[in-house]
Amino acid sequence: MSEPMLKVSGLNAFYGRAHILFDVGLEVGRGEVVALMGRNGAGKSTTMKAVMGLLPRRQGEVNFRGQNIAALPPYRIARMGMGFVPEDRRVFADLTVMENLDTGRQPPREGAPQWTPEKLFRLFPNLGEMPQRPGGQMSGGEQQMLTVSRTLMGNPYLVLLDEPSEGVAPVIVEQMANMILELKREGLSILLSEQNLHFAELVSDRAYVLEKGQIRFSGTIGELAQNETVRRAYLSV
Ligand SMILES: Nc1ncnc2c1ncn2[C@@H]1O[C@H](COP(=O)(O)OP(=O)(O)OP(=O)(O)O)[C@@H](O)[C@H]1O
Ligand SMILES: [Mg+2]
Repeated sequence: MSEPMLKVSGLNAFYGRAHILFDVGLEVGRGEVVALMGRNGAGKSTTMKAVMGLLPRRQGEVNFRGQNIAALPPYRIARMGMGFVPEDRRVFADLTVMENLDTGRQPPREGAPQWTPEKLFRLFPNLGEMPQRPGGQMSGGEQQMLTVSRTLMGNPYLVLLDEPSEGVAPVIVEQMANMILELKREGLSILLSEQNLHFAELVSDRAYVLEKGQIRFSGTIGELAQNETVRRAYLSV
């Protein structure tokens, strides 16, 4: 039980011939919320895709709940209980909220919080008011809530959340922060990518800062908030 939820080491990733990630290492403990920070193009999304097995070329070690998943395809990783909410947050436009949720359904997992549409609607009351609305007729923020909810329907142990606060209205950002804190209370482990230090401070225990595909800082979120040098060099604050 003492092994971390996720342990990545020596992770290198490539798009074609372009070398994007350089020996990235990070850990997410059980029940921890960890922020992966850095400016546009730093490599946050690439790190998540590499962990999830979505890149054709990657090297390094990826351990999930003590198992080496580095050679597994994405669907196997998802079935082991790793959820991924990509930054493009695609919902099925012609399916209703309920039908979108159904597409994410997976069996319950021992030791992972268990989700139903009813429980998710308590977390996201907006969604509960529109169970029959087609995904294509929802606002960006509502779609964001739906993609998170659909991922939770898989009853994951760990969720990779790619920039949950990006491009959504302030009121939705606040709901996103509350949602993450609620998920943490449920015992979920979360790795979120984020550019916004304020948002990360609201929800995270620890942070890593990426620049040009390398980890430049790792520490508690409080240590990052206090470290002006790192903030100025690698974040937009
Ligand atoms: N499909 C791709 N093909 C080639 N290069 C890519 C591709 N996707 C991303 N890159 C490059 O990889 C680097 C890291 O990109 P990545 O999307 O991981 O950054 P990010 O930190 O998620 O940025 P953002 O905050 O803008 O989402 C960038 O230099 C980017 O141009
Ligand atoms: Mg990104």
